[in-house]
Amino acid sequence: MTTETITAAASGSWTLGDLAVHRIGFGAMRLTQNGEAFAADAVPGDRRRAISVLRRAIELGVNHIDTAAFYFSSLRSANELINRALAPYPDDLVITTKVGPGRNPSGEWLPHATPKQLRGQVEENLRQLGRDHLDVVNLRIVGTDSIAERFGALAELREAGLIRHLGLSNIRPHHLAEAQAIAPVVCVQNMYGIGASPEQEEFLRTCGEQGVAFVPFYSIAGTGREAGAATDDNSQVHAVARAHGVSAAQIRLAWTLHRGPHVLAIPGTGNPAHLTQNVAAGALGLSEDELTVLGSLHHEAV
Ligand SMILES: NC(=O)c1ccc[n+]([C@@H]2O[C@H](COP(=O)([O-])OP(=O)(O)OC[C@H]3O[C@@H](n4cnc5c(N)ncnc54)[C@H](OP(=O)(O)O)[C@@H]3O)[C@@H](O)[C@H]2O)c1
Repeated sequence: MTTETITAAASGSWTLGDLAVHRIGFGAMRLTQNGEAFAADAVPGDRRRAISVLRRAIELGVNHIDTAAFYFSSLRSANELINRALAPYPDDLVITTKVGPGRNPSGEWLPHATPKQLRGQVEENLRQLGRDHLDVVNLRIVGTDSIAERFGALAELREAGLIRHLGLSNIRPHHLAEAQAIAPVVCVQNMYGIGASPEQEEFLRTCGEQGVAFVPFYSIAGTGREAGAATDDNSQVHAVARAHGVSAAQIRLAWTLHRGPHVLAIPGTGNPAHLTQNVAAGALGLSEDELTVLGSLHHEAV
């Protein structure tokens, strides 16, 4: 099998509630602009290229796409691109969106949504995606305060049929326990990748023990965060990549998938060649020695 013919099925699968997904998915944040996400002067991404990347992802077997209504640049909206490229949606496609943060039409960040405002954010996603219900909605938070009221508001929207399954993003372990006392949580979407701290590792394990999917973001971008991946990577990541004849980005993705069957990847790219590589990373096997070397790298070094 060549890189071009490997499909997302090779990464294995996981079930979010009752929705089966391949472990290699796709993050839509990079589609709407070139370069740094959310930058005020971002150059909008090429519309045709973005649409072809989304369609190619589906051809490659991707059936889990992560998005948000606040993923937009001056001229492109991730949700609108997904709708334009993929509707009518394949039956097996799971679209995960997130609420909490918001931006005004000029792109400036708004205060996070109150419990009451969350319904409007859910409806905004429904309108943009052209759907009557959302498959998975993550409550994306900042800080350590109680999430009970906001998660409770989303649980009511789930009961009302607007949402199939709920998840959480950017959370600490106590938030997961707090939410689970209110409604089932199918996934946690947190920053994670090579160089993760012992606390992050422990939380990843906790999610696995509870049957909750752990869905890392910035697992390629790392400390580059919104700005994206650095062109130079850690020398040990490069050495493992050379040994497999693949890129450092693919090793980063493969490493996260090796952390447990409940770990799902949602790499973001607007580049068709990177998309193919990222899907192929789901078929990469790493040896125990390689896992040990990569697992011992610390944040400052990567
Ligand atoms: N819940 C949250 O708070 C949160 C926060 C951030 C992101 N997210 C979600 O998580 C997804 C993943 O995060 P992300 O997109 O920032 O980070 P990522 O997947 O870790 O990395 C994306 C960066 O790596 C580059 N890249 C992707 N594939 C590559 C490859 N094969 N080779 C070399 N470079 C590659 C991309 O540039 P190119 O476009 O040039 O490929 C971009 O700069 C997002 O798309 C979004 O859906 C969630």
